[in-house]
Formats: sequence, structure tokens, C-alpha cells
Amino acid sequence: MAGDSASRSPQESAWDPRLVASSWDFVARGYRDYWTPRFRPLVERAIVSLEPPGRGPIAVPGCGPGDEVLLLLKKFPARTIFATDPSSEMMALCRESLGAARATTAHVTLGKAEDLSSLIHQAAGVLSCFTLQLLADPAAALQDWSLALRLGGVVSAVFWPEPTAELPFGRLMLALREVTQEARPAWEDFALKSLPRSGLEVLQNERVLAEMEHASPEELFDAIVHRGPLQVLLRRRGPDIIARVREAWLRSHGLERVGAGWKNRVEARLWVLRKVAEPGGEEH
Ligand SMILES: C[S@@+](CC[C@H](N)C(=O)[O-])C[C@H]1O[C@@H](n2cnc3c(N)ncnc32)[C@H](O)[C@@H]1O
Repeated sequence: MAGDSASRSPQESAWDPRLVASSWDFVARGYRDYWTPRFRPLVERAIVSLEPPGRGPIAVPGCGPGDEVLLLLKKFPARTIFATDPSSEMMALCRESLGAARATTAHVTLGKAEDLSSLIHQAAGVLSCFTLQLLADPAAALQDWSLALRLGGVVSAVFWPEPTAELPFGRLMLALREVTQEARPAWEDFALKSLPRSGLEVLQNERVLAEMEHASPEELFDAIVHRGPLQVLLRRRGPDIIARVREAWLRSHGLERVGAGWKNRVEARLWVLRKVAEPGGEEH
């Protein structure tokens, strides 16, 4: 299997599907309200880079509340879009915003990113925003996305890479490692090396820098826990460990004061990939 998991950590429970779904269900509305506007410039960048061939649908695994689906519809009004997410609340929010926009060419279903090819074949494109780094086996997910694509189809994936230590999210990662004693092995190099076996070639591999604003460092941390991905850790390890991570990070958070607020410099990564062969097979 593609990612025979160079990327798997001993903390398998972090990827328990029921825990993942219920955590994202719980934070869904808060995520939409807090994070969606802050992620928008990075999501737009991934959409600009998605240039699918000819005709064919576009798949959006891990669509969350669906901002990227609405943006995609603006760029590709004639394409059918299939969005999936394992959280039923996220899926409901996505449907709600598609309904409000009277969008009829986009469809949302419950589903894991790693199983995309069980729902869609011969797609012209896959757009993935801030989901790849959450998966147990990103390399295997990329291979599955390749199976879902037609030859010449493209993937545009923006994700959080192993963060730079001096930036706020990098400092958070260090605080998490120090307090939880959990460290996920690096997965990006492994995933890149496995792309040829998955029939994918790299068109772009870029750093994407952006800035976000927050009212305070405390607000940012609490939004990551109660409106974001650390909800999973809260449920797995309890509030005491979260409090210790919070305290450690707040001692040296790396945010910069700007007027009444705080600036968070972030670094995302964008991979644009093209399918040039069937996974494990030959070029057509
Ligand atoms: C950080 S949010 C990103 C949402 C949206 N794409 C965005 O950019 O705002 C991560 C999303 O991935 C979903 N997710 C978590 N684990 C997943 C998995 N195994 N497969 C697909 N999606 C997953 C969550 O439910 C959540 O909606």
C-alpha cells in the first residue's frame, strides 16, 4: 500500500474515525465562523492553481463548511462538483451554503478523503484544502485521488506542512510535542517520493505565505481547540494536557502585536500534481 506508514504514529487513536467525525461535528460552526475567512486567501491560491483538462467533474475531499466549493463554482460554473467530508455537521453546513447560493451543480456526501475513488471516477480535478496533513496516511490518500482522476487530471492540495519553528504554528507544534510526548514522523518527503508509483507528477511544490489576525494569543489557541483540530486531542487526552500546552505556547507564542490585535504569520504548502499514469501501472 502506498503509505505503508512512514507517516503513522503510535497514537493511532488520533485517527479513530468516530472520534474524528464527532470532533469536527462539534467544532463545525465555530470553524466556519472563525477559520474560514482567515483561510480564504490560501484556499483561493489553491483554486487559481487548479487547471483541470477539458471536461469532467471536480472532487473536493475534506470540504468542511464548503467555502472552497462556492469559490470553485465561480471559477467552474459548468463543471459538476462532488464534495465529501466525514463530519455530518460539516456536510450540513456545506449543503446549507450551496442551497443559499442556489447551486445545483455541486453535491455533498459523507465520506473519508482516503476513499474518494469509491465515489468518483474519471474526475478532471481534485481540490484539497487543509485536510491532507490531518490524514493517517497522506501518501495513500494521494494514491486514491489518482485512482479517482482521469489521465491528465490534476490535484491542487494546500496543506499545513511541518511548520517552521519560529512561526506561531511551529512553536505550537513544539509545545504540543513537549507536553504530549507525541510526535508524528515527517510525512511529506515520503509522500512526494511515492507520487510516481501513484501515477502523479509534480507541477508545483511551493511555500505559500500569509498573515492572519487574532484578537489575542489566547483567542487563537482557544479557537484551535474549540473551533479547530485540537478538539481531537482534547477528547483523547483531556483538558489538563490542553491547559499545559496552552501555558507552554503562551510563554513564547511568536505572534506580533499590530494595533489592537495580533498578527500570525503562517506558511502553507501547495502541491499541484498531474496524473500521468495509472497507479502502479503504465502511462496511457
Ligand atoms: C481544517 S478543516 C478544512 C476544511 C476546509 N477544506 C477548509 O479549508 O476550510 C479539515 C476538514 O477535514 C475533515 N477531515 C478530517 N479527517 C478527515 C478524513 N479522514 N477524510 C476527509 N476529511 C477529513 C474535517 O471534517 C474537516 O472538515
